[in-house]
Amino acid sequence: MSETTATPLRLVRSHWVADTLQVPPGTRVVLSGWVQRRRDLGSIVFVDLRDRTGLIQLVFDRAKGTPEAAMKLADSLRSEYVVSVAGAVVRRDPHTVNPNIATGEIELDVADAELVNAAKHPPFAIEDDADVDEAVRLRYRYLDLRRPQMQSVLALRHRVFRSFRDFLDRHGFVEVETPILTKSTPEGARDYVVPSRLQPGSFYALPQSPQLFKQLLMVAGLERYYQIARCFRDEDLRADRQPEFTQLDIETSFLPMDGLLSLMEEMFVHVFREVLGVELATPFQRLTYREAMERYGSDKPDLRFGLELADVGALVAGTEFRVFQDALAKGGVVKAIRAPGCAGWTRKQLDDLNAFAAGFGLKGFAPVALQEDGLKSPIAKFFAPAQLEAVAQAAGAERGDLLLLAAGPRKTVLQALGALRLKLGQQLNLIREDEYRFLWVVDFPLFAFDEELGRWMAEHHPFTMPRWEDIDKMESDPGAVRAQAYDMVLNGYELASGSMRIYRRDIQERMFAVLGFTPEEARDKFGFLLDAFEYGTPPHGGIAFGVDRLVMLMGGRKSLREVIAFPKTASGSDVMMGAPSEISQEQLDTLQIALKPQRPSVPSAPVRPAR
Ligand code: AMO
Repeated sequence: MSETTATPLRLVRSHWVADTLQVPPGTRVVLSGWVQRRRDLGSIVFVDLRDRTGLIQLVFDRAKGTPEAAMKLADSLRSEYVVSVAGAVVRRDPHTVNPNIATGEIELDVADAELVNAAKHPPFAIEDDADVDEAVRLRYRYLDLRRPQMQSVLALRHRVFRSFRDFLDRHGFVEVETPILTKSTPEGARDYVVPSRLQPGSFYALPQSPQLFKQLLMVAGLERYYQIARCFRDEDLRADRQPEFTQLDIETSFLPMDGLLSLMEEMFVHVFREVLGVELATPFQRLTYREAMERYGSDKPDLRFGLELADVGALVAGTEFRVFQDALAKGGVVKAIRAPGCAGWTRKQLDDLNAFAAGFGLKGFAPVALQEDGLKSPIAKFFAPAQLEAVAQAAGAERGDLLLLAAGPRKTVLQALGALRLKLGQQLNLIREDEYRFLWVVDFPLFAFDEELGRWMAEHHPFTMPRWEDIDKMESDPGAVRAQAYDMVLNGYELASGSMRIYRRDIQERMFAVLGFTPEEARDKFGFLLDAFEYGTPPHGGIAFGVDRLVMLMGGRKSLREVIAFPKTASGSDVMMGAPSEISQEQLDTLQIALKPQRPSVPSAPVRPAR
């Protein structure tokens, strides 16, 4: 490695690389950054210099007056060395113009150069299209983040946050920070916990969301609150789930649900216009939970393509075909989806589909091919031709399409066909990638019955208000109670969830009772909330947006790890720092914690936390 001087920086940056596009030819500038590449032609050395704003070609040329010391330094430069250079911005000869970079028509004639810091050879090239294993990228995240794509996604994230803040500020929202060290909730099996030194044996929990605090801020008369809030959930991870993630968390008082939803739409119009220059059409489409499930087999349907599910139970009732007969007799459903242009699918392709169906607990999808010379299907013999034609028509199928039918319990069929719909959308290239399809899903059920625990659970969280007209069914028919809850969905991702909240002690107590809390338990765990409700609580409601997911979609990325500066791997590790890690015996002693002998990790229990 070359020696760097032990003196303060001599050449101090006067411009960013991108600024060189704005200055008149001949302007002297000082640029600082990293060596992207060096090409040595003997008497001339070309160096591509990179800073956050771009690349520019530096020319070290004795014939053009580059001093000897700078020529010598140019010889020593390697990738990722940090340098400062002074020189004149000049136009390139027309035949040396590089159309691949923004500064391709100019270059810098170097008059002085300083090596600021040398660098080891990096484990991968600092370029966007470098094919590098993700584990290596995460281990050297500080180098990975040097890639222009990563820099631009972090800048995008910043612009999105700033734009949200601008909008909310203009609409009277106050940003309030809520605690990170807080209390574990009774159903908080997904809590990360932190031991207390001052109260040995007691633990704080990291917040899964600021839910209770934001409600208490409404009791406190804040009226309009927001926070860019870090949330922590010890869940199994996926591409769209991180153990710590960021919410744009919002709560308002005295604003009915429709007012809140349209304010949120207005906020998205503002952010998309300002950040992406995209005009969103409002109002966003709305579907009830039931419609979304029946038509798309999902509570977060991707509406960038069609392929709606058709309920064909009534059309095939009375059939001799046992699978359909059984399903309908047991109160189940028969539903169909069309696969456009797939009438010619091979046996192998159909077998693969059956394997896919089996993953959802179905025997298979019954295929009906709409070929030019008629309908072809292994189940054709059980139906009159007109019957199958009617089924095809109900599903909107045309000649050349393949119709796939599924029968069984409603939930299973919807899940399987919902997943098949997405698979077909991707496989058949039906998804319009450049589109943003926003959707509100409303009227969620308030409760869901948990078969394993044998009791009702809150579908969203226990603080969600039932629809007024359903309140009287809370005890007698919990499954029929609809919630004043809504999700915002974008391109098949759940972007946000929210609800109008319970603000009366009596309703909150009834809610806890349906969830199986004794009055003592309810008081013990949530006494502060029940008490607060007695001191003049305004009607309130809110929403929380998963901003990592939003930035991922706005940036056209496939994983949250691409939009979080320092993300965790699928096993919840930070491979760069080596977290989580053991702590010293001394630390354990201070906290009065004794570790049990190591056991295999406990499988996660089916719980739904209060968040
Ligand atoms: P919810 O639990 O639905 O609601 O969370 C709101 C939004 O946060 C995002 N999100 C996640 N993003 C990345 N990784 C995760 N592990 C993760 N979990 C959730 C999703 C989700 O829609 N307090 C309520 C909101 C409210 O009622 O106001 C709440 O937290 O985009």
